[in-house]
Amino acid sequence: MIILAIESSCDETACAILKDDELLSNVVVSQIDIFKAYGGVIPEVAARNHLETILPVIDQAFSDAKLKTKDDENDWSKIDAIAVTHTPGLLGSLLIGTLTARTLAILHNKPLYPIHHLKSHIYSNWLETEHTPEFPLLALVISGGHTQIIRMTRHNDFKIIGTTLDDAVGECFDKIAKILGLPYPGGPSIAAAAEHGNPKKYAFPHPKTENPLDFSFSGLKTAVLRTVQKECGVGLDYPSHDLKNLLKPEQISDFAASFQKTAIDILLEKLQTAYKNYPDVKSIVFAGGVSANKALRKAANAKNVFFPEPKFSGDNAAMVAIAAKYEIESGVKPTDPYKLDISPRSAIQ
Ligand SMILES: Nc1ncnc2c1ncn2[C@@H]1O[C@H](COP(=O)(O)OP(=O)(O)OP(=O)(O)O)[C@@H](O)[C@H]1O
Ligand SMILES: [Mg+2]
Repeated sequence: MIILAIESSCDETACAILKDDELLSNVVVSQIDIFKAYGGVIPEVAARNHLETILPVIDQAFSDAKLKTKDDENDWSKIDAIAVTHTPGLLGSLLIGTLTARTLAILHNKPLYPIHHLKSHIYSNWLETEHTPEFPLLALVISGGHTQIIRMTRHNDFKIIGTTLDDAVGECFDKIAKILGLPYPGGPSIAAAAEHGNPKKYAFPHPKTENPLDFSFSGLKTAVLRTVQKECGVGLDYPSHDLKNLLKPEQISDFAASFQKTAIDILLEKLQTAYKNYPDVKSIVFAGGVSANKALRKAANAKNVFFPEPKFSGDNAAMVAIAAKYEIESGVKPTDPYKLDISPRSAIQ
């Protein structure tokens, strides 16, 4: 079976073509360079860029997969199904991908599979690997918008057992990077600055939550802000965006390293608690943009712990295609393209 998948939930426009387990093409065009200047994503700008980029990205995916006709047209006769990220994400961004997929499904008479974005992140662990996770498993989804522990007992069966009560961990990396004057996106720039820093220089609290498997990152963000203000000798009302001018490079590295260590410790403590609650678990699976973090990969490295290939940890369409493959194999029926629902829903259902 050959699946063409489209992803446009945030600021990456992506298309991939998957033949059974073989990835024929995987095109990702990121808007990061546009948003570096603003320090974050502007939803309307992202949507406009998706609109300009999506058709060339699909053409490129056909080219890379060598699925062009003699006349250099996209050979739709080879495609068995279309998959698309339908939620969660930025509404304008999602609309470009879903409307494109829906139109193509109607035009070429292909079955259409709307795929939940977080399921795709989890399924990135099944891409280009012979050693795949075993069930039951616990998945830690750590991305720009979500932080969740999800239990899976078989394919396409998801139960959320822990979730963030406020900020996502990726968002926390991004916001703390801003305070420290490090460029967007904050995750990679905090990780780079942390390499030269002392992770024990500053101690930050680990939040307590009623459900021990839930997360809370807004307190950590405030704790870092207050410590930076104290270290710089300014008051609580000092604007956070001006603090970077008062910090020395070694202080920035020490804050980055201390914050990163705290975030990783919190994630792994929660995961250990979850593991104790579910002793039948055979694999632990990390997913989402923050799973690219090298210090986290080192700290969590163990047998039966899975991380996606770094190129699949951020948003891409290959993960949408493989998630669709397992949905189809689990008996999920295609969606009528005229009834495609993109109402905003964060939770996996
Ligand atoms: N090396 C890294 N260390 C820590 N965080 C990282 C790293 N690389 C990327 N990130 C973070 O990952 C996040 C982006 O991940 P991803 O693209 O999966 O999120 P998203 O798609 O915006 O959100 P969601 O998947 O929840 O809708 C950003 O917050 C970014 O800072
Ligand atoms: Mg994502």
